[in-house]
Amino acid sequence: AKVGGLADMVGGLTQDLLAKGHTVEVYLPMYHSMRYDLIAGLEKVYDELWVPHFGQWVSEEVYAGKIGKVPCYFFPCGDRFHRDSIYGYDDDLYRFVHFNRAVLEFMTRKEIRPDIIHCHDWQMGLLPVLLFEHFIQWGFDRSRVVFTIHNIEQQGACWYGSELLGSVGLDCRNYFSFERLRDERQPNMINLMKAGIVFSNFVTTVSPTYCRDICTPEGGHGLDHILNHHHAKLGGVLNGLDYDYWNPETDSHLALNYSADTFKQKYANKNALRARTSLPDEYRPIISCVTRLVPQKGLDLIRHAVFAVLEAGGQFVLLGESPDEKVNNDFRALGAKLIDNPNVYIEIGYNEEFSRQIYAGADMFFMPSLFEPCGLSQLIALRYGAVPLVRKTGGLADTIFDAEYSDRGFPNANGFLFNDPDPSGVDSVIKRAFKCWFFQGEAFRELAYHGMLCDYSWRRSGKDYENIYNHVKVK
Ligand code: ADP
Ligand code: GLC
Repeated sequence: AKVGGLADMVGGLTQDLLAKGHTVEVYLPMYHSMRYDLIAGLEKVYDELWVPHFGQWVSEEVYAGKIGKVPCYFFPCGDRFHRDSIYGYDDDLYRFVHFNRAVLEFMTRKEIRPDIIHCHDWQMGLLPVLLFEHFIQWGFDRSRVVFTIHNIEQQGACWYGSELLGSVGLDCRNYFSFERLRDERQPNMINLMKAGIVFSNFVTTVSPTYCRDICTPEGGHGLDHILNHHHAKLGGVLNGLDYDYWNPETDSHLALNYSADTFKQKYANKNALRARTSLPDEYRPIISCVTRLVPQKGLDLIRHAVFAVLEAGGQFVLLGESPDEKVNNDFRALGAKLIDNPNVYIEIGYNEEFSRQIYAGADMFFMPSLFEPCGLSQLIALRYGAVPLVRKTGGLADTIFDAEYSDRGFPNANGFLFNDPDPSGVDSVIKRAFKCWFFQGEAFRELAYHGMLCDYSWRRSGKDYENIYNHVKVK
């Protein structure tokens, strides 16, 4: 069930923890739009799970199966998740708090008492509240919660708090204070991200720079105050990438597999990408972008870059999708406007197989985010030998080091950075990268080669999470 990097993060972390010898299970809603073809042995494992809902008890089912080696439990929660998309519905808050409660009911019945429950984003923010305020009496007194913030812009705040909390059996009056769930910017609201921050035993975010950013009034989106208050249990852990799942040496969707040592074989993928997108076979770099088309990703800057790349003599490939159909139509219109230019290809949609062919075929990867908690796309690009051109913010600043200006210096550097989120920032980064590609071919290949050798696997980050779990665990 993937919308963006959260799926990559949870997928990679759980495989790594399993490999390190821990017992790991993943609990997620049974989204209708999941890749059911990737779940092995899916079966119903519980028939009558009774979950409170507005004072009544409703009976629900639970399913289980494996993704890779990781056992997963799927909660249909009635038919609450039987929708075309994963998020974006008016009742999202109700759906997710219900799921939080259902998970704890299931653990109670099955006598599952984890040392650590690791919750992600506002969707799971109420779980530590339910756990420590209610379920603790059912033998959960040794369970601890780690809460990870992937994107602080989305907080799950609403004004119908008493109804929402009431739907899962909590009395809002006990939680409606600024030390607890009450929203500081909109004081008539409750905030589920804040619930996760206040009630869990440790809070992480997905890169050290983003961790500092969200503790400031500019980056905190109203939660900086509470984060600073809880700073002793806050830390930034850079996401890793699952290097088995994203591996150009074994990726079955590529025209030809390759590694850093057989870098030349990457060019077969450039040809294949051109064939797939009808770009002419000429002496030009391909610069690509695979992204959710949301404001965070710098939509105007992407649009500007299309023209800047064409002007500079490159080819542009964009694969993207927005939850907002208007944005999709804007980019479709851009494609239609440039229909006579053979050097640009824009596809609106979500397609993981094609994304792999883009990472493999492109010379460069463009990511002009206005903010970026971590970013996994630039790490995939590095792994596939596409040189990242990124804005210096959040996790991008923690992972990409400029070929010319970083204190690491060439050849340890692995990309090109720009500071200002405006057209001149984009122009400058494209100009520098293109100059390198056109006039210092050997240096450019070195850069891509060294990018492929960078280690952003879970090896390091998995260890960091292990340390955090051990730190909060009841000894
Ligand atoms: P975010 O989670 O904010 O979207 P990340 O860089 O962390 O950003 O992760 C994005 C992930 O989603 C990457 O694996 C990227 O390849 C994938 N992705 C984004 N948009 C698309 C798309 N349109 N088609 C296929 N994969 C996509
Ligand atoms: C969010 C962030 C992204 C991060 C991902 C996984 O979607 O936008 O930067 O990489 O979560 O943590």
